Amino acid sequence: MGERFETKTVHIGHEPLRQVKSKSTPIYQTSVFAFAGLEEVEQFYTGDGEYLYTRNGNPNQAELSDAIAALERAEAGVSAASGMGAIMAGLLSVLGPGDHVLASHEIYGGTYALLYKELSRFGIELTSINLNEEASLADHVRPNTKLFFLETITNPLLTVVDMPYWIEQAKQHGLTVMVDNTFATPYLVQPYSLGANLVVHSATKYIGGHSDVTSGVLVGDPERIARAREIVVNYGASLSPFEAWLTARGLKTLAIRMERQCDNASQVADFLEKHSAIKRVYYPSKEATSFFHRQKQGAMVSFSLADESKIYDFYRALDWIKFAPSLAGVETSVSHPVTTSHRAFTEEQRQATGITMGLVRLSVGIEAAEDIIFELNRALQK
Ligand SMILES: Cc1ncc(COP(=O)(O)O)c(C=O)c1O
Repeated sequence: MGERFETKTVHIGHEPLRQVKSKSTPIYQTSVFAFAGLEEVEQFYTGDGEYLYTRNGNPNQAELSDAIAALERAEAGVSAASGMGAIMAGLLSVLGPGDHVLASHEIYGGTYALLYKELSRFGIELTSINLNEEASLADHVRPNTKLFFLETITNPLLTVVDMPYWIEQAKQHGLTVMVDNTFATPYLVQPYSLGANLVVHSATKYIGGHSDVTSGVLVGDPERIARAREIVVNYGASLSPFEAWLTARGLKTLAIRMERQCDNASQVADFLEKHSAIKRVYYPSKEATSFFHRQKQGAMVSFSLADESKIYDFYRALDWIKFAPSLAGVETSVSHPVTTSHRAFTEEQRQATGITMGLVRLSVGIEAAEDIIFELNRALQK
């Protein structure tokens, strides 16, 4: 090290190669990695070195994507700066100009916008299918159809279709199947082991679990994930080390959070079913979720008010249950699809889908179920 104050200030205390046995994973908050010489750089490019530049890869990103791949029983994974980044990488790892996508008509608005508004500009076509009404994909498959996209539990009506059946259908037509498993998580079901080729998560939700991070993960077979990784790198959608670290930290409590949140949600759904101020409760049935690996139906409950003109009063009356247009944190929260995620819907679309002014989407947290029920009852009575 140089002896002058200016040089010492920059280099003192920095020992990147020192091995310290920390119990938790350190945050590799670095944009680039140092090399001992040109031979080491060469090793990286010939596949022997792990890290070069954080946009290309970082130990915190790898910790997260390896963990989700293992929990989803997939061979490989890649993280991204958001759920949408991971969805984009998954779609573009399969699709090119002139290709056609079949998607469930109940998909997250952002995914729809990516397909309908962005990928359409590259000649990628989309057909949305109502999987509750169709019996097969045959009428919709074209010679250029490449991919079938669906969600395990849909947003906001929490529909669960017979995923094994639809995967089988898609396979008969040689389609790649991509599943958004954000609402169910690998705790409830692992679509890769049911035959899906790519499984994606907005890790912003249950994987992170604390509403303090935006991140995404895509898992699948090594070949598709290698291509998806190139897309993440080339489009600049890499996850930052700190966000990766926070998400991986949140993941550690996924099982215990999901167990509690699903049990709470089931009690809340029972309570709402009997409430006179409620017109309809949307909560996956035991039959619909029979292909899940666990006898639980998720931690989201949607419901519509009998008198939808009271919707403003209801949100105003809530005290500690916060209005927040996201979901899956440890705190119970509510959102309102019509004024947030489904704002673009016309009145006609609202009536047709049931996503109406009176619809409330509840993300059930880890608090005591009795307190959640008490608070909802208090707001409903007001
Ligand atoms: C089912 C689903 N998939 C994907 C996304 C997008 O995730 P992100 O906001 O992390 O980009 C969301 C966001 O709400 C979602 O609900």
